[in-house]
Parts: sequence; structure tokens; C-alpha cells
Amino acid sequence: MARILGGIGASHAPSLAFAQDAGKQNEPEWKEIFDAYHPAHAWLREKAPDTVVLIYNDHMNTFCDIVPSIAISVGETNPVIDEGWGKRPFPDCPNDPEMAWHLVNHLVAHDFDITTCMSQQVDHGMLTPITMLFEPPWPVRIIGVSINAVQHPLPSPRRCWNLGREIRRAIESYDNDAKVVVLGTGGLSHQTTGSGFGHVNPDWDQNFMTLLETEPETLADYTQDEIMILGGAESVEVVNWICMRGALSDQVRRVHRFYAAPMLTGYGLLVLDEKLNEES
Ligand SMILES: [Fe+2]
Repeated sequence: MARILGGIGASHAPSLAFAQDAGKQNEPEWKEIFDAYHPAHAWLREKAPDTVVLIYNDHMNTFCDIVPSIAISVGETNPVIDEGWGKRPFPDCPNDPEMAWHLVNHLVAHDFDITTCMSQQVDHGMLTPITMLFEPPWPVRIIGVSINAVQHPLPSPRRCWNLGREIRRAIESYDNDAKVVVLGTGGLSHQTTGSGFGHVNPDWDQNFMTLLETEPETLADYTQDEIMILGGAESVEVVNWICMRGALSDQVRRVHRFYAAPMLTGYGLLVLDEKLNEES
């Protein structure tokens, strides 16, 4: 039986990618943020997962004219794409088609209407956290679970929480000894459009991370509007974190937590170890 080793919540802001590609990791304005990933690297080295189930949102790269609420790719590989500022020099992301098909079949059988696709374009929603957490060649297979966070109507936080719960049951029913980490990306607070441009709310971001760790299901009771008022329009991406947390048990141990809001986005990183599945 496959088992979940733990979960990670991480921002996927393109600014991280720009800084990384420009080699700014040790410059004063970035060093604290890049150093904050070191404990996550150590935890991943220790756990050595086989597969990452990556809960993210596409930014109208794979899905534009047609936007599914929830989509999973079952192809062999998901390609890194050029989002308009040049294709980043990273290899395409290897999928885990067998497990991905198992997830799709299980989730559809349990009333989640998944859009099954053969390929998802790897935009910054997937690639930023992957490049912050791993080095190529990618040591894990990556199953992208895309949740619509850009085109209304959006799936509710409760829907995303329940999806996470069912993803857990799917993984635990997978007849394979794969070790899995669930990664939720997006946010935290930010708004890059309209009259609320530049809205960042560190108090809410910190509260969100605390609730996600200690009282996660309370977050499922928020509406998308409440989240957007608190954290800005695009912060509704935190449903990906809520889904990730839904895939974990009540018995998690915090390995690492980091937060900073130096510019237009609240950067968050949270690593939770799954105590239920610790090896004896
Ligand atoms: Fe995003």
C-alpha cells in the first residue's frame, strides 16, 4: 500500500523563479527566503519520496478556453513551457502515470468529476516549488492535480478539503509501496490586479498557516470571497494548501515553518511530517 510521508505548502510566485535564475540566492534581499528552504531539503532527503502529488493551479496556460474545476494528467511527462518571459532551463517533469490513473479512477468512482488529460503544461504553479525543493534530474515523479483558481465559478474551500481527503484514501488504496509527499502551492496573500493591487496581509497569512497546521478543517468553512477579502484576489490559490492538508491526518508534526512578505506576495513555506505513517 502506498503511504503519505507528509505534506508541504509553498508559494509559487514567479519572483522566486526570477531570483533563482538570476543567481540572487545569496543577495541580502533574497538570502533569508532561499535559506528557508534548506530544512525542507533536509526533510525530503531523509524521506526520499518516490512521487509528489502536486496540488496547484494553472494560470491559463494549459486551460484557457476550457477550464476544468479539477484536472489530472496521466501522460508520461508534463512539459515545461515558456510563459512569455523565456522557457526556464529545467527538464520536463516525469509523471507517474500508473498512480495518476489510479487517482483518476478512484476519485471519479467517489463522485469527483475529474478532467483527465494526457499532458499539463508546467507553468510556474508547478515549476517554482519543484525547482525550490529539488534539483534536476528530478528525483521524484510528479502528479499534477490542477484546481481551478482563476476562472469563476471556483471550487469551494470545502470542496478542495474533501478532495484532499479522497486523495488520501486513493493513495492508501493504491497497491504499491510508493512513498508519497503531497505538495500544495500558491499564495499566500497577494493581488496583482484592480484597485486592491499590492494587497498583502501578513497577519492573515500567519493565521492561515497556524490554522492549516492545527485546525485545518476550519479553513474549509471560509468562502472564496472571504479569502479574497482577507488575502487579495489571487490569494484564493490557498485552496491548494487546504486540499494538501486534507490529504494528511490529524497527527502531523511541524518540521518547518517560514513566512516573509518583503514585496507584493506573502511567501509561505510549511513542512508537515505525517506521524501516522512513520516507519517503526
Ligand atoms: Fe499563482
